[in-house]
Amino acid sequence: MASLALSHHLIPFALFLLTRTLPATAQTYTNLTQGTTLTPLGPIASWASPSGDFAFGFRPLDSNASLFLLAIWFNSTNPQTIVWFANGDHPVQAGSKLELTSDGQLSLTDQTGNEIWNPGVRSSPYAALLDTGNLILSSSSSSSPLWQSFSSPTDTLLPGQVLTPGLNLFSRFMDSNFSTGRFALAAQTDGNLVLYPVALPARNFYHAYWATDTMGSGSNSTLVFDMSGDLYHALTNGTKINITSTRTYSTEDFYRRATLDVDGVFTVYIYPKKVSGKARWGENWTAVTNIPPDICTRPTDVGSGVCGFNSFCVLENERPDCRCPLSYSFMDSAAKFKGCKPDFKTQTCELDEPDSFELETVSGVDWPNSDYEHYMQVGEQSCRSLCLSDCMCAVAVFRGGECWKKKLPLSNGMEGNDGGKLFIKVPKNNASFPRPAPTTILAMERNNRSTLILVESLLLGGSGFLNLILITAIFAMVYCYHNRVLKKLDQGTTTLGLNLRIFSYKELEEATKGFSEELGSGSFGAVYKGLLPASKSTTSIAVKKLHRLHEDSEKEFTNEVRSIGQTHHKNLVRLFGFCNEGTHRILVYEYMCNGSLTNFLFGSERPSWNKRVQVAMGIARGLAYLHDECSTQIIHCDIKPQNILLDENLIARISDFGLAKLLRTDQSRTSTGIRGTRGYVAPEWFRNTVITAKVDVYSFGVMLLEIICCRKNLEAGAGDEDTAVLTYWAYDCYNEGSLDLLVGNDEEAMADMRMLERFLTVAIWCIQEEPSLRPSMKKILNCDGSGFYFDSCGTVVVE
Ligand SMILES: *[C@@H]1O[C@H](CO)[C@@H](O)[C@H](O)[C@H]1NC(C)=O
Ligand SMILES: *[C@@H]1O[C@H](CO)[C@@H](O)[C@H](O)[C@H]1NC(C)=O
Ligand SMILES: *[C@@H]1O[C@H](CO)[C@@H](O)[C@H](O)[C@H]1NC(C)=O
Ligand SMILES: *[C@@H]1O[C@H](CO)[C@@H](O)[C@H](O)[C@H]1NC(C)=O
Ligand SMILES: *[C@@H]1O[C@H](CO)[C@@H](O)[C@H](O)[C@H]1NC(C)=O
Ligand SMILES: *[C@@H]1O[C@H](CO)[C@@H](O)[C@H](O)[C@H]1NC(C)=O
Ligand SMILES: *[C@@H]1O[C@H](CO)[C@@H](O)[C@H](O)[C@H]1NC(C)=O
Ligand SMILES: *[C@@H]1O[C@H](CO)[C@@H](O)[C@H](O)[C@H]1NC(C)=O
Ligand SMILES: *[C@@H]1O[C@H](CO)[C@@H](O)[C@H](O)[C@H]1NC(C)=O
Ligand SMILES: *[C@@H]1O[C@H](CO)[C@@H](O)[C@H](O)[C@H]1NC(C)=O
Repeated sequence: MASLALSHHLIPFALFLLTRTLPATAQTYTNLTQGTTLTPLGPIASWASPSGDFAFGFRPLDSNASLFLLAIWFNSTNPQTIVWFANGDHPVQAGSKLELTSDGQLSLTDQTGNEIWNPGVRSSPYAALLDTGNLILSSSSSSSPLWQSFSSPTDTLLPGQVLTPGLNLFSRFMDSNFSTGRFALAAQTDGNLVLYPVALPARNFYHAYWATDTMGSGSNSTLVFDMSGDLYHALTNGTKINITSTRTYSTEDFYRRATLDVDGVFTVYIYPKKVSGKARWGENWTAVTNIPPDICTRPTDVGSGVCGFNSFCVLENERPDCRCPLSYSFMDSAAKFKGCKPDFKTQTCELDEPDSFELETVSGVDWPNSDYEHYMQVGEQSCRSLCLSDCMCAVAVFRGGECWKKKLPLSNGMEGNDGGKLFIKVPKNNASFPRPAPTTILAMERNNRSTLILVESLLLGGSGFLNLILITAIFAMVYCYHNRVLKKLDQGTTTLGLNLRIFSYKELEEATKGFSEELGSGSFGAVYKGLLPASKSTTSIAVKKLHRLHEDSEKEFTNEVRSIGQTHHKNLVRLFGFCNEGTHRILVYEYMCNGSLTNFLFGSERPSWNKRVQVAMGIARGLAYLHDECSTQIIHCDIKPQNILLDENLIARISDFGLAKLLRTDQSRTSTGIRGTRGYVAPEWFRNTVITAKVDVYSFGVMLLEIICCRKNLEAGAGDEDTAVLTYWAYDCYNEGSLDLLVGNDEEAMADMRMLERFLTVAIWCIQEEPSLRPSMKKILNCDGSGFYFDSCGTVVVE
C-alpha cells in the first residue's frame, strides 16, 4: 500500500483522497518524500504539478491497458500528451511500483521486484514535479537538482529545456509503442545539430537527413527551447541559429512542445489553454514547424528511408505519407513505415520464367538508391527487355537514352523522376491478380487526396475499357475540367469541386488570429498568414482578403474561384478554398515560406546561377500551363517578381493568377483598364488592340532579364542613362554581343555561356514590341517541354 509521508498539507491531501473531486489546481501539491510509493492501480497512480498542467506517474498504454509506462504528461490537454517516459522499452504490469527509498533513490521495480529504472542518484530527500513539466530529485540544501528529467529527455523538449552536447532525442517506435524508434536528434559535441535515421535494434545512426551544419562551432553548442517559445541552436561562440519561434502564441494562452515524431519529423506544437473552461482556438495540438519540411526527398545511404522498403513517400502538409507501388501491399497496414511486399511470387533465377512477367509503366515516382546497372545510349525498348530478361531486375528506369536497373528491396522511394519512365516488373495479368474496380479507385483518390501516381499506375495495368474510363477521370481530376460525378459526390460536404473548401469568415478569423499577421498587400487587397488546424497536423495558409469586388454577383465569384481551383501544377500556388460571406471575398492559398522572387533576386546575396535557371524554367512551365493547358485559358496580366513565390524547395510558384478575370469579367482592354505594373506591362496595353496571352510573355521577358542580371528593370537613381532601363541596356548588349557587361562579375553565369546566351535570346524575343513576334510560352519551353531549347522550334526574330 502506498504510504505517504506527509508533513505538510495533510488536510487538503486527505480530502483529495476522500473525494477525488478537487480540481488539480487546489493545494494538493506536495513533494514526494522518502518512503513514498506510486503504483499503477494503487490509490495514487500519478501526481500533478502545482498548476495541474502536468502529471507524473503510471499510465496504461493505449495499445494494451495492462501495460504501464512511468511517464510525465500534459494532464489538461485532450488528448493527454506524454512528454517524458522512463521505461519505453520495458513497460511494466500491475504490481510494479515506484518508490523514493529511504536512502533517497528513486526506483521503478516491476511486478517481480526487478529494478527497471533508476536515475542513479542517492540520498535525495525529495522529488518534485515542477510546473514546467520537469521532475527533479533534490536536496533542500542545494539549489540545483541532483537529477532532473529535463536532463535525460526522451522524444520531447519543453520550454525551459535544453539539449546539451552529447544528448539525443529518440523518436518512439509507434504512437503507442514507446520503444526506441527509427529517428534521433543529436546535439553533438562537435557543435552540429543533426537528425539521423536509426538502425534498429542496434541503434547506430545512418547518414544524416538534416543538420544545422555547424560542426566545429565548439563543444558547448546547445539546442535551446526557451520559456518564451523560441527554439534555437546556441553555438559556443554565442551565435544563435533560429529554428523556429512560437513567441506569437502567448504563454498564457498556449502550451507548447517540440517532439521528434514517429515519422522522423521534429515538430513544434502548440495547444490552446482553456480560458475559463473554454478553448479559444482549435482544440488540439497544432504543428507550427516541421523539420525538415521535405523529409521524403532526403534519402539515406543505407536503410530503407522514411517509409520502409519497397514503398514510396509522398509529402502531405510537410509530413510523410507512405504508399505501396502497383501490385505491392503493406507488410503491416497499421505500421506503414514497415514497408511493402510484392503481392506476387517474385521472379526466381533458378526457373526460366521471363514469359510470366511484364513491365508496368509508372510515372512520378523513383527509388534513387537501388540501382545496380546503368546503361548509356540505349533505347526504351532495349531498356525494357534488359530488365525483363534479367531475373534480378525489379524496376527499370529509362531517361534520356539512359537505362538503370534496380533490384529489391527498393529503398528511399519518393515522388520525382523528372521526365523519366519507370517500369515495375509484375506477373502477367491474370485472374489471381485482381484489380480494383474504377469506382473504388476514384472514391479512394478523392478521400485520400492522393496523387496521380496511384491511379496512373493502376491505369496502365488495367484493361482497355477500364483505361478509357480512367483516362477521362484523370483528365477530369488533373486538368482544369470540372467533373459532374465528382461534384455529386461532394454534395453535402463543404468542398466544392476538386478539393476546394468553403471557409466561414469566423474560421478564417480564428486561423489568422483576427487577421493580425499581414504578409503584404497589393492592388487586390491584403494577405495575412494563418494556421489551419487539420486532423493530422496544421497547414500554414496565406489568406487573401479581396477589396469589395466591382458589382460581382456571388455566382460569378464562385465560378471564377472554381476555375482557379481547378488548376494543378507544381509551379502554381495552390488555392485551398475561399470564403464568400456577406461582403467578404477571401481566397485561401497554401503558404509559401520562402517569400517572393523580389527578395530572392534583389536581396543582399546573389542567388546561384543554377537556382536562378531552375526558377526561370519553373515560371515558364507554370505560365505555359496557364496559357495552353487549361480548358479555359488564364492570362495572368500582372507577371512580376512580387507575384512569383518560392516554396520550401525554392520551386517558383506563380501566385494571383486568375485574379485579373475575377476582378473584371470583361478581359478585353479599355482605355482605363490597364492592369499590370510599371516596368512589366506590354506596350499593347497602351494601344487599342486586344489583349492576349502575349502580355504575360512580355512581362516574363522583362523578368527573365532581371533573373539573369539580378537587378530591377527600372533602377531608381541609376546614374548611367545607358544602363538605367534594363530592357534597353540588355538589348544593346545583346546586339553588340557583350554579354559579360550584363552579368558583371557573375562567374557562374559566364561559365554557363550556352545557357546564358539562350536565356538572353529568349528574353529579347519575349520583349518584342509587336505581340505576334513574341513566342508563346509553349514555344519557349520548346516542343518537348525540356526548357529553353528553342533553336529547333523556330527562328528568333529580333527587329
Ligand atoms: C517542495 O520542493 C520545493 C523545491 O523544489 C520547495 O521550495 C518546497 O518548499 C517544497 N514543498 C514542500 C511542501 O516540501
Ligand atoms: C488529470 O486530469 C484528470 C482530468 O482530466 C483528473 O481527473 C486527474 O486527477 C488529473 N491527474 C492528476 C494527477 O492530477
Ligand atoms: C498485454 O500485455 C500483456 C502482458 O505483456 C500480455 O499478456 C497480453 O497478451 C497483452 N494483450 C494484448 C491484447 O496484446
Ligand atoms: C514495441 O515494438 C517493439 C519493436 O517492434 C517490440 O519489440 C515491442 O514488443 C513493442 N512493445 C509493445 C508494448 O507492443
Ligand atoms: C560563431 O560560429 C559560427 C560557426 O562556427 C560562425 O558562423 C559565426 O560567425 C560565429 N559568430 C561569431 C560572433 O563569432
Ligand atoms: C563550455 O562550457 C563549460 C561550462 O560552462 C566551460 O567551462 C567551458 O570553458 C566551455 N567551453 C568552451 C569551448 O566554451
Ligand atoms: C532569432 O530570433 C530572435 C528572437 O525571436 C530575434 O530577435 C532574432 O532577430 C532572430 N534572428 C534571426 C537571424 O532571424
Ligand atoms: C496466374 O497466376 C498463377 C499463380 O499466381 C499461375 O499459377 C498461373 O499460371 C497464372 N496464369 C497465367 C495465364 O499466367
Ligand atoms: C485510403 O486509401 C487506402 C488504400 O491506399 C484505403 O484502404 C482507405 O480506405 C482509403 N481511405 C479512405 C478514407 O478512403
Ligand atoms: C487530436 O489529434 C489527434 C491526432 O493528431 C487525434 O487522434 C485526436 O482525436 C484529436 N483530438 C481531438 C479532441 O480532436
